[in-house]
Amino acid sequence: MEKIGAGSFPKDSLEVLEDASAYAAEYIANVAHRRVSPDAAMMEGMQRFDSPMPERVGDPRETLRLLHKLGSPATMATTAGRFFGLAVGGTLPAAMGARVLSTAWDQIALNEATSPIGVQLEQVASKWLLDILQLPAESSVGFTTGATMANFTCLASARQAVLNKLGWDVSANGLFDAPHLRIVVSAQVHVTVLKALKLLGIGVDRIEYIPCDLQGRALADRLPDLDDHTIVILQAGNINSGASDPIGKIAEKCERAGAWVHVDGAFGLWAAASPKLRHQLDGYHIADSWVVDGHKWLNTPYDCGIAIVKSPNSLHAAMATQAAYIKEGNAVAPKDIVPEFSRSARGVEVWAAMHSLGKQGIADMLDRCCHLAQKFAEGLEKLGFEILNDVVLNQVVATLPEQENLCLDLAAHVQASGEAWFGTTHWNGKTAIRLSIVSWVTTSEDVTQALAAIEIGLDKLAMRGAVRASCSLD
Ligand SMILES: Cc1ncc(COP(=O)(O)O)c(C=O)c1O
Repeated sequence: MEKIGAGSFPKDSLEVLEDASAYAAEYIANVAHRRVSPDAAMMEGMQRFDSPMPERVGDPRETLRLLHKLGSPATMATTAGRFFGLAVGGTLPAAMGARVLSTAWDQIALNEATSPIGVQLEQVASKWLLDILQLPAESSVGFTTGATMANFTCLASARQAVLNKLGWDVSANGLFDAPHLRIVVSAQVHVTVLKALKLLGIGVDRIEYIPCDLQGRALADRLPDLDDHTIVILQAGNINSGASDPIGKIAEKCERAGAWVHVDGAFGLWAAASPKLRHQLDGYHIADSWVVDGHKWLNTPYDCGIAIVKSPNSLHAAMATQAAYIKEGNAVAPKDIVPEFSRSARGVEVWAAMHSLGKQGIADMLDRCCHLAQKFAEGLEKLGFEILNDVVLNQVVATLPEQENLCLDLAAHVQASGEAWFGTTHWNGKTAIRLSIVSWVTTSEDVTQALAAIEIGLDKLAMRGAVRASCSLD
């Protein structure tokens, strides 16, 4: 007899949830003690997924069993403390739990009618976010898959508002024959902003770039002349150096010219939630729109980006949809402030993260990561590295003087060791290793362990005659 069908609910769901919970707990209990990147043996099992699709209904518990047995070992250990790639956090316990519970809820965060609790929690999370980031309380907040789509959302709103002021309704008339738009962007813009611009019909070859200093900050005195046709895109938190553009200085000029200012702060805007770090974003609140990621420094699970727009009208004009079969409620519907129509209530995890840490806990987490970045930089210097950035936030970029290319071998070596994971980059013409300290779970011991792995890597390269013998750690 086939197992799933009318009558199998809720028994199957309950059993599978119990299994999933036990597997997830086992995974979390062990993840700190295993390799960061899976080795060949750990990934061997995953090849077995590539089998013909079953013809018949199976046992859902067996599906889960396979997922854990073959899938869990083949993961990158991003929820433990020694993954320093990209700019990615782990997952706070409350946020992880909220994800599990909200999966059981399976809410359609489209409007109040389809998910009263989804909309309520997203509205509360929005208020709290505006409060801790010290942004204008009247702003609209939308929850997207990540900063890429959050940038898309904000820039769609910017396009709508700028063209509207010029007498053109882009939602109605599109871009053909529209008044020209100027896009002025920090030269160190993240690649995904360029993608968002492409999706919005703004060719990247039309962009005017603002040159940057050696920390990757846009030079306010090199801003081109601005006018009210212009959208200016700045950055809070350079993906390599962590430095932020002088947002206030530039935003004031934009305000005078009637230009729109957008701030991509995928991880760096979180600095606004720390009294110790906030000064780095001086004047950021003068902008018109901002982006920050929950799945980065707030340590919510993937995927969670946040789009914030000061003028709710322009966002609404760009994103609103109406359908006869959807009953409109009193609250502004999530479907009317982000590109997605039906989607998960990802604001639930944002609410849970903020509720569990509180303002102080979030500030402490941010400050702790920055402190660990300093420790990393000091340790790397003792090993003979040159630190290429001012370590002002959570980012460290370091190279081996006169032997830069060995950074590639070294990163590969440490990745293969399973002791830690970080990537490489090119910074001011140099090849370098690049470390992001973003996880709530990373400790001083994790940094020490990662430095020890780097030292072993250097020694191995020295044995091969590839690198000068390194100094040793204290
Ligand atoms: C400054 C900046 N903008 C945008 C992004 C893209 O974010 P996501 O991967 O959440 O779309 C990143 C990712 O690291 C980033 O650092």
